[in-house]
Parts: sequence; structure tokens; C-alpha cells
Amino acid sequence: MIKSIKLTNFRSHKDLTADFENNTAIIGKNAAGKTNILEAIYYSFITKSFRSTQSSLINRDSDFMKINLDFGTDKTDSMEYRIKQSGKYTSRTITLNGVNKPASGIIGLQPIVIFVPDDVRIITDGPSFRRNLINSIIIQTSKDYLRALNVFQKILNQRNRLLYSLKNRLTTSRDQLFVYNLQMSEPISVIYKYRDDLIDFMNKNISAKYSMISGSPDKVHLDYLNSLPKDKEDILSSLEAHTDADISAGFTIKGPHKDELIVSLNGFSSRDNLSRGENRSLSLAIKLTEIDYIDLKTGSPPLLLLDDVLSELDSDRQKHLLEQSKKQQTIITSTEIDSSIKGYKVIEI
Ligand SMILES: Nc1ncnc2c1ncn2[C@@H]1O[C@H](COP(=O)(O)OP(=O)(O)OP(=O)(O)O)[C@@H](O)[C@H]1O
Ligand SMILES: [Mg+2]
Repeated sequence: MIKSIKLTNFRSHKDLTADFENNTAIIGKNAAGKTNILEAIYYSFITKSFRSTQSSLINRDSDFMKINLDFGTDKTDSMEYRIKQSGKYTSRTITLNGVNKPASGIIGLQPIVIFVPDDVRIITDGPSFRRNLINSIIIQTSKDYLRALNVFQKILNQRNRLLYSLKNRLTTSRDQLFVYNLQMSEPISVIYKYRDDLIDFMNKNISAKYSMISGSPDKVHLDYLNSLPKDKEDILSSLEAHTDADISAGFTIKGPHKDELIVSLNGFSSRDNLSRGENRSLSLAIKLTEIDYIDLKTGSPPLLLLDDVLSELDSDRQKHLLEQSKKQQTIITSTEIDSSIKGYKVIEI
């Protein structure tokens, strides 16, 4: 549970302190800085913003920013982020209870599910939105996955640099590619194992969530299209078999960084013509299932951040979402106080 936050030069907030209760509403006019507060909370535990790069988090008139956060269930832990900009370079330090930590030591400490008006893009936009969603869920529930993803990403970058050099004849030595293929196949198999587990869970539970929202017995299905096989040895042979094509392209064509997730409603892929309302309900159903997955895997329900989403939902959908939020700490933003946030602590900014 988050107890309080202090922002120094975080975007529009030069100096802001807020204390949270189990249910808290942040109320303010457009551009008052409501989303900025949720972004600071999200950033603190995911170590990435949901809307931009790190350097844009620093107040425009400053060259550094700081976030201090108190959280924990019984005793209080405190965390501090400092980001400093010197010319082109951005440096960041994170401390937990006074001890320096890498990002990987922070992710998962307080699992979070955020709802933003843009969530519909999970359905309507390109596959990278769906892969990012999948990653953001699983990194919070498994250190194993986080490690595999980091290792994969690092080797992928090295492999792509070499492929680029080979394509452009900056080098002719391709022996190292086999080493990368070998090093990659293990983390890729781990990534696939966890993604399978999440998709399985979603397929078992998402239709019920969707039907609750739509009020009719609908069927939602997710299809994860893996561009490489799932078994470690098969991954290696497939990478080997694709090496020439990768060199011609100058980058790694296949892998977990390229896979697609197809969402279908009653047998129709969302890439065909679902209505705006159906796409919205699908994205909401995915997020609601995400809450249950994190709850199951971590043993406690995640913190919910709802950014201005209530106003976009009709009263039935509002009710379902707020029903979910009773169990766990929930922080919402809105431009006005209305009956849906009865019982919430109100912070006006
Ligand atoms: N790096 C920055 N330095 C200073 N101000 C910033 C920075 N980044 C964003 N802002 C400003 O912060 C202000 C508040 O943004 P925020 O998105 O939090 O508003 P909001 O209260 O959520 O508004 P809305 O109701 O429209 O969603 C905006 O005016 C934006 O221009
Ligand atoms: Mg906002």
C-alpha cells in the first residue's frame, strides 16, 4: 500500500506532497497535474513511464527531479528516485530504505494495474502495444521472467548490431552469431513459458469478465502467435536457419520481440470490424483479468490507478470497475467530485 509521495521537480510539480488512504481521489482541473501524480507512482514501481521517456519527467525549468515514496503493508518502506540531466546524459539513482538498488530490485515490490483512457489502443494499435502489456504484467509477478527479458534484450541488441555490420559489410566475421543464438535460446524459452501461462489464464477467465461488462454471453479468445518455436533446442535451430535472412535484413526478424497477440470476440478478430464500444469493453476486460492474474501470482491484489476513466464509462461499466477496486488500494483521478467516489479521500490540486 502506498502511504505518501513527495515530488520535487517532477513534471509540473515543483514541490508536492500527498498522503493516500485505501481509496483516494485526486481531483483537479485539466492540466492541474493529476496524471503526473499517477505517473510518478507508476514510474516508481515499474521504473518506466507509461507515456514517455525518463528525461521528460524532469521539470522544464530544472535539471533534476526527485520522488520520495513511503509504502508497505505493516512497516513502512521508503524509496527515493533521483534523476539528473547533464547535457545529453540522464543519470538515475534508486534507493530503497537508504540502500542503492537496480531497477530489477524494485519491480514487483508493489504490483500495479493502471487504467488510462488510451487503453483501447491495446486492441486497436500495433502488436508492440500488446507485447508491452504482456511484459508489464509478467515482470511484476516473476523475477525469472524479468531476468530472461533483460538478458534477451541485451543479447538481441548485440546481435542486431552485428547483423547491421554484416549487412553493411563493416565486418565479415559471423562466428559470434552462433554464440548469440545459443545465449538467446534459453531466455526465449523462459519468456515463452511465462507468456503461455498468462495467455492460458486469460483465456480461462476473460470471457466471464467481458460478459459481465456487456451483459450478454460473449466469448473472447486470445491467440498468441509465436514466431519461433517454444522449445530451447528448436529455438536454436530456428535461429540458425534464419541467420542468412537476418543478415540480409540487418536485424533479428523473429522472436518474442516480434510476436503478435490476436484478440477475438465471438470468433471475429479485433483486426476486423469490431465497434468502438466492443474494443473499449475488450480492453477493459483484459485489464480486469490482469488484476486477477497478478492477485493469483503474487498472493495479493495489485494497487489500482484509474486515470480519468470513470467519466468515459457508462454507469454499468463504472459499477463493475469500482466493484473490483473495493478489495485493494485504489487511486483515481477525475476533474470533478461525483457520487461514484463516495467514501474516497479527496485530494484537490
Ligand atoms: N517536464 C515538464 N515540466 C513542466 N511541466 C510539465 C512537464 N511535463 C508535463 N508538464 C505539464 O504538466 C501539466 C499537467 O499535466 P497532467 O497530464 O498531469 O494534467 P492532468 O491534471 O492529468 O490534466 P487532464 O485533466 O487534462 O488529464 C501539463 O500542463 C503539462 O504541460
Ligand atoms: Mg490527465
